[in-house]
Amino acid sequence: MTGLGLTGARGVSPNLALDELVRERRRAGVSVVHLGFGESRLPVFPPLAERLTAGATRNAYGPVQGDLAVRSAVAGYFTRRRIPTEPDQVVLAPGSKPLLAAVQMCVRGDTLLPLPCWNTYPPQAMLAGKSVLPVPIPDDCGGVPKPSALARTIRTARADGRDPRILVLALPDNPTGTLAPPAVVRELCELARAEDLLIVSDEIYRDLLHDPEQPVLSPAEAAPERTVVTTGLSKNLALGGWRIGAARFPSNALGAGLRDAVTSFASEVWSTLAGPMQEVAAYAFGEPAELRAYLARAARLHGALARAVHRIVTSAGADCRPPTAGFYVYPDFEPRRDALFRRGVTDSASLQHRLLAAHKIAVLGGHHHGDDPGGLRFRAATSMLYGDTAEEQLAALDSADPLALPHTARLLDALREGFAELCE
Ligand SMILES: Cc1ncc(COP(=O)(O)O)c(C=O)c1O
Repeated sequence: MTGLGLTGARGVSPNLALDELVRERRRAGVSVVHLGFGESRLPVFPPLAERLTAGATRNAYGPVQGDLAVRSAVAGYFTRRRIPTEPDQVVLAPGSKPLLAAVQMCVRGDTLLPLPCWNTYPPQAMLAGKSVLPVPIPDDCGGVPKPSALARTIRTARADGRDPRILVLALPDNPTGTLAPPAVVRELCELARAEDLLIVSDEIYRDLLHDPEQPVLSPAEAAPERTVVTTGLSKNLALGGWRIGAARFPSNALGAGLRDAVTSFASEVWSTLAGPMQEVAAYAFGEPAELRAYLARAARLHGALARAVHRIVTSAGADCRPPTAGFYVYPDFEPRRDALFRRGVTDSASLQHRLLAAHKIAVLGGHHHGDDPGGLRFRAATSMLYGDTAEEQLAALDSADPLALPHTARLLDALREGFAELCE
């Protein structure tokens, strides 16, 4: 026995744990339709691999914030999205996850989160010693709190001695696959200004709008003085394993102070973005024409599959916000509660369990997204339907009708059958 205590040991992130479980089932010969992991299942776009090879000799540490050339490319990326940015407002990192964690570590006060939300935000806030202040999302979109509920939560939290200071938004959102409309973003920005909140706008899915004409308003446009934006290449370019993320800080004294604090944190934790990845990032954030064309094809594929799964779950009787970005749907099987009760399903944990055990469909229950555990909701990551091999995935990317390809049609049939059986 020892008197040493562990802090922050909460087990592996539930999505990573589920992915491992599915791998185990598959090794045992069980064929599982895996909708449980938020990864874009597409092969590496070849010019990116060429940049990686070209960067292989970059073995020096390099500046903590990232090379000037890379920060300039990121500044250009934001500027093209109506967020004028100078290179010194940018910090690169191995993924946006550590940048989001660093902001939580460097800013005092408690954290307001829209719920349900990406399963990493609550533990990050808690690891930083903060209270999580949950606020429900509106009926038509996720990633943002209902403005009226946010105002109420702030008042109650202050009365309870809490100090709400950080508001995290996901634009577009994981887990609902939706984007909050500009009017809601504007209202939240006004509230943030009135209540002196820092906005952390996680825009990692921004380039995956199913309809490229869909209007986007970043809080960095509506409240530039108090918004940090994070982004990365994990989702749009399917490079999750390469770990490339960026943060953009406000151009004022608050932004400079926060950037310096995050840079100092980075210098003690991850040092810098790996040299070869800086080479990749300079190319990708520069957005050459061939990359934009690839992205447009990827966004079209994400939309086609997300809408197909949306049709399947709503036909089975679920309510579900129509997905408009990224590769998720977040159905609510409350209307089928009686039917599910007959199968022993009474909450989101038993729903997740039943779908895997009886229907061989892996999803991540709403409780893992901070949702009410008594609800009958889960997140389905539809990007896992593109195929298991690079050939299948490329065929899906190139197809004018990816739903008609034999491998996707087979998986969609299995889903249709599974959800119909669950709800009958
Ligand atoms: C909303 C959201 N933000 C951030 C990330 C993390 O991305 P990265 O790979 O840049 O750390 C994810 C990944 O699942 C995500 O869904």
